[in-house]
Amino acid sequence: ASPARLALKGDLLDFTATPRWARVDDPAVRFRPDHWLLIEDGRIVGAQAHDPGEGWVREDHGGRLILPGFVDTHVHSPQLDVIASYGTELLDWLNTYTFPAEQRYMDPEVARYGADRFLDALLAHGTTSAVVYPTVHKVSADALFDAAAERGMRLITGKVLMDRNAPEGLRDDVVQAERDCLDLIARHHGRARLAYAVTVRFAPTSTPAQLAMAGALCRADASLYMQTHVAENRGEVEWVAQLFPEARSYLDVYDRVGLLHPRAVLAHGIWLDDEDRRVLARTGAHIAHCPSSNLFLGSGLFDWPGALEAGVRVSAASDVGGGTSLSAQRTLADGYKVQALGGQRLTAWAGLHAATRGAAEALGLSEELGHFGVATLADVCIWDWAAGPVAEARMDLARDPHERAFAWMTLSDDRNLVASYVAGELRYRRP
Ligand code: GUN
Ligand code: ZN
Repeated sequence: ASPARLALKGDLLDFTATPRWARVDDPAVRFRPDHWLLIEDGRIVGAQAHDPGEGWVREDHGGRLILPGFVDTHVHSPQLDVIASYGTELLDWLNTYTFPAEQRYMDPEVARYGADRFLDALLAHGTTSAVVYPTVHKVSADALFDAAAERGMRLITGKVLMDRNAPEGLRDDVVQAERDCLDLIARHHGRARLAYAVTVRFAPTSTPAQLAMAGALCRADASLYMQTHVAENRGEVEWVAQLFPEARSYLDVYDRVGLLHPRAVLAHGIWLDDEDRRVLARTGAHIAHCPSSNLFLGSGLFDWPGALEAGVRVSAASDVGGGTSLSAQRTLADGYKVQALGGQRLTAWAGLHAATRGAAEALGLSEELGHFGVATLADVCIWDWAAGPVAEARMDLARDPHERAFAWMTLSDDRNLVASYVAGELRYRRP
């Protein structure tokens, strides 16, 4: 068990608000070098420059970076098994690699082992909360919920809904799926730090009847999350237009059945138009931007500032196994490159915010996590500023906090992680 009073010393970095796009000197950035972060009974109670003294278990990480744990707003637990699979784009990749890997999760042993391995991998990458896709199998959602509760993690997930255009062993049906959702909601939603997400894989794998059922679940309980994919790939967008000729756009398929609301997380959103962005802003649904996946699957370049200008919230996500790393820094380094290809620049502040406080706000969780505000749960990670001589030399030359944070975001990964705490409990320490 964790000590009742724990103090962690290092360079504290978090955000008090949303840093403006392209601003490197924004007052929303709170950088407190060489400070003590004070944690009591799992919650943050303050931060100060002076040593808190004898009454505290003190860990001195002077010269290291201390950040809120990262929040991965879109990731597929069973797809760790197909990460880095060669040579196809979305629809081919699903059929060739992903669906066969997901079929194995009908086995409760595989589901349980997979959930443990996945959450331990998140913690070993400095990610302490996530919005996760398991598989269509109820047992895969149960296993993730139980494994997250054991670790004290904030986890949002739900069994995947898919009743067409998927192989044998990966399809449900409307009646059984609704029953499974209601049972999972009753047993897990609101237990410990768990929340249920109505999880529509994407429009092509659900019948209109199943989409209507999913919308009805959301309407019946506004505390439920919803997650799905939207407008990721051009071939996918064309397919949706054929399957749903009555819809104005891909996004409209979801809007018509009531799936867009403030707790809706939509992955990708690359191929949206202005009207779609207005709908997202109006409904409060948010985009989980997955740059690593978008580059790896050749899906396209997301217009991040365009979304922000339209009033759409954006978080950053790995989308493993379409994405090639669970590391938030690798995701954000790819995010920078995606914006560079669009003639834009992602600051370290905008990037790190989107993976911490920005994600927490988009999920309605900023009173619980995502920053070092007093009374939040202490989901905290400790990082080396540099791993290896190249990064060390670069860090020594960084002249100001943004330059340092940007070099860190661009050069670091899970090798830099020293320790992860979840609600003040040590859940990972580098061997
Ligand atoms: N669209 C539907 N399913 C998936 C998936 O598993 N990964 C990604 N990246 N896109 C999807
Ligand atoms: Zn995905």
